[in-house]
Amino acid sequence: MKHNHFDTLLVHAGREKTRSNGPCATPLYQTSSFLFDNSSHAANLFSLTEPGHIYTRLSNPTTQVLEERVAALEQSTAAVAVSSGQASQFLTIQNLACAGDNIVSSASLYGGSYNQFKASFANLGIEFRFAPKGEIKSFESLIDSKTKAIFIEAIGNSDFYIPDFEQFAQLSKKHNIPLVVDNTFGAAGYLFKPAHWGAAVITHAATKWIGGHGTSIGGVVVDTGTFNWNNGKFPLFTKPSESYHGLNFWDSFGADSPSGNIAFAVKARAEGLRDWGCSLSPFNAFLILQGIETLSLRMDKILANTQQLAEWLEKHPQVERVNYPGLKSNPNYENGKKYLKHGFGGVLSVDIKGSREESAKFVNSLELLEHLVNVGDNKTLINHFASTTHAQLSREALEAAGIGQNTLRISLGIEHIEDIKRDLSNSFTQLK
Ligand SMILES: Cc1ncc(COP(=O)(O)O)c(C=O)c1O
Repeated sequence: MKHNHFDTLLVHAGREKTRSNGPCATPLYQTSSFLFDNSSHAANLFSLTEPGHIYTRLSNPTTQVLEERVAALEQSTAAVAVSSGQASQFLTIQNLACAGDNIVSSASLYGGSYNQFKASFANLGIEFRFAPKGEIKSFESLIDSKTKAIFIEAIGNSDFYIPDFEQFAQLSKKHNIPLVVDNTFGAAGYLFKPAHWGAAVITHAATKWIGGHGTSIGGVVVDTGTFNWNNGKFPLFTKPSESYHGLNFWDSFGADSPSGNIAFAVKARAEGLRDWGCSLSPFNAFLILQGIETLSLRMDKILANTQQLAEWLEKHPQVERVNYPGLKSNPNYENGKKYLKHGFGGVLSVDIKGSREESAKFVNSLELLEHLVNVGDNKTLINHFASTTHAQLSREALEAAGIGQNTLRISLGIEHIEDIKRDLSNSFTQLK
């Protein structure tokens, strides 16, 4: 595409514009199934020899626009939309690992991902090995012949750890295993482009900044098209698929295929969505598409608000600590400067002076900020970690994630910064 700037792709990528007298908005195909022309058309669709839609569990024209848009934004070959961010991780991991395999993951993770990895994947026989942040050697020491991927978040939720991606890219190359990056906090490539820094697969909670309006849960798995699944470590891609007419995903959709290397995405859809059913509802795809058009406009305001609030809070006498990579004093500042564009993320955390009870009182006194568990909305949101998203974590795990008993997470919206500060000032006054 010649009009390929990020802002233009946000509005146009994936749209079908060729139909005479066609719609200007992406239509909502709220349908479970699609008509076949005849029996041989049906057979071709089922055997993947002809592209097209069969059943919305597998693909849908509205959802496809979202998939193509996110793939374009991430400068990748293909994407598969799913029902949530959690589902994007599930679909990714089950696509490359079996019982007996392991994944080496950063310990700096969204609490829900940590639970999914540590407990639920363990029940399926896939072991996650967690390495402390920052220490590339400790990641390497956990890798063995059964390791099928390295997993990191672009900006950790919510200790805001920003990995040194160059080192992770080298590590994945050295061991011939894919680097998987949860780029939820990287806002579909606006802040961070994992494909430029060695990622093989990118996962997203579209629930957050991609959708941006707090209306829809959704996720996207992105295939960057850069990984050689034919390196001897991934028989799931190179042996005939028992459940797919003996299809060899690498031979048909690997680096030599006319569409480029889309083997990961095709397998995730053809086997993963078919069998696990974690598909995105077309209605949610439609809503997320409305949101994504303004992603960069929203992000600019959110990033400016977050930076300003972090600087204001850092100077506040009732604040113990502010964690935001955009502060020069922050340990993630240098990596943020090296890898991120436009700003340092839309979320910060603040430890207010006082007890756990006082932090609860502080939140209860707020009028404008919304007390709930989400990030990436147009509205400014606040959450007390220890009693919500990270409640399942032990005290040690909380500490490892950089979270204290009185830590509050604030996800900035697009309101006027003075109104946000005024609301917080009022709550600080209540504590005096
Ligand atoms: C970094 C990150 N990844 C994944 C998820 C999971 O997304 P979802 O809630 O859509 O399942 C979240 C949710 O907060 C998140 O912050």
